[in-house]
Amino acid sequence: MCGIVGYVGPRFAAPILLDGLKRLEYRGYDSAGIAVLNQGRIEIEKCEGKLENLLAALDGRTVPGFLGLGHTRWATHGEPSQTNAHPHPDCTGRLVVVHNGIIENYASLRQELLERGHSFTSETDTEVVAHLIEEAYEGDLAEATRKALRQVRGAYAIGVFSVDEPELLVGARLFSPLVVGLGQGENYLASDIPALLPHTRRALIVEDGEVVALDRQGVRVWTLEGKEVHREPFHISWDLEAAEKGGYPHFVLKEIHEEPEAIKNALRGRLDGERLSLSEVEGLDLSQINRGCIVACGTSFYAGLVGKRLIEEWACLPMEVAIASEFRYSCPVIDPRTLVILISQSGETADTLAALRLAKERGALTLALANVMGSSITRGADRVLYLQAGPEIGVVATKTYIAELVVITLLALELARRRGLLTKGQIGEVIREVKALPSKMERVLEGEEEIARLARRYADRSSFFFIGRGVDYPTALEGALKLKEISYIHAEGYPAGELKHGPIAMLDPEVPVVALATKGAHYSKIISSIQEVRARKAQVLALATEGDEDIEADEVIYVPDTLEPLKPILSIVPWQLFAYYVARERGCDIDKPRNLAKSVTVE
Ligand code: F6R
Repeated sequence: MCGIVGYVGPRFAAPILLDGLKRLEYRGYDSAGIAVLNQGRIEIEKCEGKLENLLAALDGRTVPGFLGLGHTRWATHGEPSQTNAHPHPDCTGRLVVVHNGIIENYASLRQELLERGHSFTSETDTEVVAHLIEEAYEGDLAEATRKALRQVRGAYAIGVFSVDEPELLVGARLFSPLVVGLGQGENYLASDIPALLPHTRRALIVEDGEVVALDRQGVRVWTLEGKEVHREPFHISWDLEAAEKGGYPHFVLKEIHEEPEAIKNALRGRLDGERLSLSEVEGLDLSQINRGCIVACGTSFYAGLVGKRLIEEWACLPMEVAIASEFRYSCPVIDPRTLVILISQSGETADTLAALRLAKERGALTLALANVMGSSITRGADRVLYLQAGPEIGVVATKTYIAELVVITLLALELARRRGLLTKGQIGEVIREVKALPSKMERVLEGEEEIARLARRYADRSSFFFIGRGVDYPTALEGALKLKEISYIHAEGYPAGELKHGPIAMLDPEVPVVALATKGAHYSKIISSIQEVRARKAQVLALATEGDEDIEADEVIYVPDTLEPLKPILSIVPWQLFAYYVARERGCDIDKPRNLAKSVTVE
């Protein structure tokens, strides 16, 4: 995700930048750095790790200068290290850039820049922007930035300044947030409002595809094509705590609302139109692979259940899914012909790491899906597919689950492509639908009020069942887990057909049953299960596909239709919201539920 901050004005920039970075550290903490223009020279100070390392390195020393940029990093391209920490200079050292986002075409841009004689010091995608601006510079930094960014594909918020225009800060945005803070004789640039709050409450949003130039007197805004834009400032009414959560009362709610974006980010750099381009598995020899095994814990395990289904359906590769804590104590049949896929948002789950070690000992090919760059699992696995979801602060997994589902979907398609089992046209059809998911998910989120009302109505119950079949079954498990984790209500996820083999004995009017009844292969079966449940006088909360008017339940939540294999990506969202609002009604500590930790690093 990364956080950026910039200052131009009559005060020393460095303390303002460091304070701003502290307020943006929730956006990433793989490294931190500042650059300040000090008497015609750019001074850069940067360190790997949290901001406190940079503060320790500075040891109270202020870098003098009245113009500067700061950055706190969430690594995407290039491991977390001092070299890869921002800001990044161009070849001449006369300009410097900070960036949040992913430059999708950085590899080809880098190659072209190298051929034109530029030299690179980092492995980041960001550095190409510095060199592109360097090439385009003819005395007007804003114009050079516009020219450079017209060559860039992907997502970015950037900040840039140059020794040649010593009172000017330039920013730009495409799909990554950027705001300008307006002061008296001084101005600010930041990824997010918390960094501005100690200084000003007058701000201006930079929109996608815009470039801004700030000096002490004011701000100008242009489109990338150079057309000047008039933008009215707005007043920030949030307090600091609300601002860090983007105005939401909890990080969990903020992160649920970030899910449409999480889908787009998980796809970033991995598609070329409707063609798959998974560079992470390029060149991997799969010819000897005859089976696979997905290993994970908790929510990631449920993403694995979905993954197994997709890989078997599309790639016809027999897959097993194992809970990591059981895996190594069972007798797993793993050999060099097995593809072992490890899923872990944190990349630090002790049991999943142990499974990775075992798989490697047996000579298996290992592939990790993880969110945290440089985490243990990413260092051990043969190949890594990052979730690209940005930091998740809420302890329970929400947006990272969505990203896991998207990435495993792409992987399943890639395996099918490699095994020659899906045609280009069939893959294109799925990809078209995956690309439509963010807007469909926005529609699901529009139902939030209705879900909150439902949650308030059922918040006093002490037990829930979640049932589903086929692709809806993992959603039943994950829905139940979310409710348990944040509202502390007993909830069980069950394959709908299993209910009658025992658990149905538990049903009575006080035990609501959430039935995942999307239109698809198992629709008529789940309808029968709903009838069995209703005959026992249990209330049914159904999740149905938009347009389904036949469904009979006490409450119905609708989600847009999509291809059957993609349904889990939309169907979980209402139950994340439901768990959230039930927990709120019960006064639970939603962002930090009791007894839970974001990374479970013990066995
Ligand atoms: C659920 C949750 C846990 C994790 C599990 C695995 O909300 O947070 O169940 O999914 O501990 O964590 P990772 O994915 O980090 O390996």
